Amino acid sequence: MQSRTSLKSWQTLVTHAKEMKQKHMSDLFSENPARFEQFSIKLKPFMLDYSKNLIGKETMSNLIDLANECELEAWRDKMFAGERINRTEERAVLHVALRNQGNQSFELDGEDLNQEVQQTLMKMKAFSEKVRQGHWKGYSGKRITDVVNIGVGGSNLGPQMVTEALKQYSDNSINVHYVSNVDGTQIANVLRPLNPEKVLFIVSSKTFTTTETMTNAKTAMKWLVSSSFDQSAIGKHFVAVSSNKENATAFGIKEENIFDMWDWVGGRFSLWSAIGLPIALDLGFEPFIELLQGAYDIDQHFCEAPLEQNAPVILALLSLWNCTFLGAQSQAILPYDQSLHMLSAYLQQAEMESNGKSVNWHGEAIDYPTVPSIWGELGINGQHAFYQYLHQSNNVVPADFIGSIESVTPVKGHHQTLMANFFAQTQALMQGVDEKQVRDDLKAKGRTPDYINKVAPHKVHKGNRPTNTILMERISPRSLGSLIALYEHKIFTQGILLEICSFDQWGVELGKGLANNIEAELNDNKVNSHHDSSTKGLMAYYLRSKKHLNND
Ligand code: F6P
Repeated sequence: MQSRTSLKSWQTLVTHAKEMKQKHMSDLFSENPARFEQFSIKLKPFMLDYSKNLIGKETMSNLIDLANECELEAWRDKMFAGERINRTEERAVLHVALRNQGNQSFELDGEDLNQEVQQTLMKMKAFSEKVRQGHWKGYSGKRITDVVNIGVGGSNLGPQMVTEALKQYSDNSINVHYVSNVDGTQIANVLRPLNPEKVLFIVSSKTFTTTETMTNAKTAMKWLVSSSFDQSAIGKHFVAVSSNKENATAFGIKEENIFDMWDWVGGRFSLWSAIGLPIALDLGFEPFIELLQGAYDIDQHFCEAPLEQNAPVILALLSLWNCTFLGAQSQAILPYDQSLHMLSAYLQQAEMESNGKSVNWHGEAIDYPTVPSIWGELGINGQHAFYQYLHQSNNVVPADFIGSIESVTPVKGHHQTLMANFFAQTQALMQGVDEKQVRDDLKAKGRTPDYINKVAPHKVHKGNRPTNTILMERISPRSLGSLIALYEHKIFTQGILLEICSFDQWGVELGKGLANNIEAELNDNKVNSHHDSSTKGLMAYYLRSKKHLNND
């Protein structure tokens, strides 16, 4: 088996990167007026302009060669065919089966998945309509007005990001709230204004073992029972989404109130399943199907478009180019549409939990830079916070700029200002401004030579900072579904190119195990000596100080 670094295309890219590092993007734009046309992809819900990357025709062709040498298309087909490409957990990776809006059949071990998926969708439809129409009653006969989703990570971020993004599409018949943190402050704040008679809890946990979720669910149950004085109220106020029916029923949730999840759906790719129940409750079932349709549109594109025109593939190749070959270590996600304010948090889990790893498929240490850390914030807020770093620090941070042609909430005089900033920032990051321009400008403003000498170096922007621009038509359930699927397939492609097992998450286990042991010690008020001196010292200090604070 050839390692990635010994592939011919990989080595060509290493040499090519040295050449490209000597170039400046603004020269590439001057030399080639067709750059925008050449390096952009127009799809129905969005267009992707990737011309503001340090690339040329040769770069893209080398990257496509790499994708071919890595047999990307064959791997993609294996995923869609239900092969167990999640090799360390020996599971298929079939979140795409959840949004199959065509007639493709998805099978696993001879079982027709379409049927199972449809059954769950129908259960979601019936349930969400019953709740939204007021036919699902609480213990005192009142209709449900508030839904509290209790879940964390993939059982929280996807639905919350989507319901936040699609707020304008909600008829507000149901208020949806989220509890993910085991810090009691969050659940206390969420529950305080709510009337237990009218609240429905969704306990969302694929494994039904996650401590944070179980702790919050127990608190919610106590809250309900202490108000209803009736244990049987749980049946009217608690549903679960889980692949672990046994634990969910043992927890006290009625079997008919459990929505299925499957081991072939990774938590961070699960919003298309019943984990998306809060979306259907908030917006209605039809918009939920539109969301699936949008994702399906991109599934089709990913399967059918040639690699050169394949948006998720291009995004993955560029990430690889910028990070592995040009040395960038982080990537910013910068939405300019307020509705996408949770997108970077969502993509942090999607990309970093998937590809933040350091051994390859064969368990060997990877000796090349892999994926960046993902961070970001609404771009316009970032401009007045961390963009200074993007423009002038020594670290180059490739960034995805995501904006919409039309706002879902048009307010006169706002959108154009927003979009002017959107376009200006990628231009500034690409072009920069050199010392001569700075000096000429200061001179033209009548500044003294002393002042110019002092200030000029501080005003230089090197530019040459790569960005992708994703310009959506407008945020809608369908276009949002497409946007999310675009990133999902980008992440899959990165995993293939880098030989990373994208669908496990062993790195989250170590801390979980230690936390369980430490919690037992804290509960016993004693610190075991086997900890390192820092952990031991901190725990002892915490227990001592807690005692003092309680005595005060
Ligand atoms: O700890 C990480 C993780 O396992 C994520 O992968 C997952 O999305 C999240 O926890 C929640 O897990 P569960 O849905 O099983 O509660």
